[in-house]
Amino acid sequence: MTGTFHNSRLWLDGCLDFFHYGHSNAILQAKQLGDQLVVGVHSDEEITLHKGPPVQNLSERCLAAITCKWVNEVVPYAPYVFDLAWMRKYDCQFVVHGDDISTDAEGNDCYRHAKAANQYLEVKRTQGVSTTELLDRLLNSLPLSTYTISPSNIRTYEPLLKRFASAPNGTDPYTNIFIQSSNGPEELVSGIFSDKVKLRKSAIYLDGDWSLFTGTHMTALKACAEAFPDLPIVVGVFSDDKCSEKPVLNLLERTLNLLQCKYVSAVIIDPPSARSFDTLKYLKAKFDGLIDNFSYPKFSVKEQATFQVTLNRKPTDSFQILDKQGSDTIKQRIVSRKHEY
Ligand code: CTP
Repeated sequence: MTGTFHNSRLWLDGCLDFFHYGHSNAILQAKQLGDQLVVGVHSDEEITLHKGPPVQNLSERCLAAITCKWVNEVVPYAPYVFDLAWMRKYDCQFVVHGDDISTDAEGNDCYRHAKAANQYLEVKRTQGVSTTELLDRLLNSLPLSTYTISPSNIRTYEPLLKRFASAPNGTDPYTNIFIQSSNGPEELVSGIFSDKVKLRKSAIYLDGDWSLFTGTHMTALKACAEAFPDLPIVVGVFSDDKCSEKPVLNLLERTLNLLQCKYVSAVIIDPPSARSFDTLKYLKAKFDGLIDNFSYPKFSVKEQATFQVTLNRKPTDSFQILDKQGSDTIKQRIVSRKHEY
């Protein structure tokens, strides 16, 4: 299925700092307009020059785009002030941006050249989510009560959840969504889960808070998908009150982050909270007849496992997981650089 611009390659660029569902929603809308979507990511130096230092470095910000199911290729070092010649190098015909004005250090519209050349397309900016707002939650420790969403409220966002469940082409059904009810996980959106399960009658299950969707989460999900390529990766996301510590993102935001990730086949919203064999037994019973074997992956992805993104100005659609130890966590980094934001 193709979008409005048949056989097209579209370009979308940005900082993609602290990747959130506003970014992925812009990416999804762009994908629905064309066929192939190339995402350019600005360098740390250029972001610092034009708007202030990003929290995440270029590799981390590229990684977020690589793991997004609607993205075909990622190009590091994309110029902050949009450059038509640069976009054409990647065979793209149009640049897509949210309907907010993006300005450079001199206050000029970053997309003025694309607009003048009629090669600029706009999608709707997602209200109510921004990197600044997320930093505020972290730095000012906004109480959870100001942004929490309960499992019962999440049903009011069903249209948004359905859109985010769409396949890499941006339209067909793909990721299943289950929500916990008194009878067990109830299907809210259907996708590829049952088809995948029919082949092997097994599934891999990972549960967690998924508070802030960082490189650690992405590498864990990638490692699972690669270790079990024929099995559905089912991910449980705990409700705000069941998270191990106050989540920076609420249940809806955390669910949307998982849905946009290309390694996830199904999401269970508000599953039983303990990571235990009882949970697996419970899920197996609830998916009775469909699944003979529900298992946690038999390896642990280290808390500090890190990754390498090829940063050579060539498009990339994959990354490598390394085993390096010791990088500081995003939270530590923000707190230690608080004065810069
Ligand atoms: N975007 C959006 N909705 C948001 C935030 C961003 O549609 N709430 C879009 C932007 O319009 C742009 C793309 O996502 O087309 C990448 O934006 P980026 O430069 O990374 O983000 P900002 O616009 O600076 O927003 P934020 O501060 O939230 O990162």
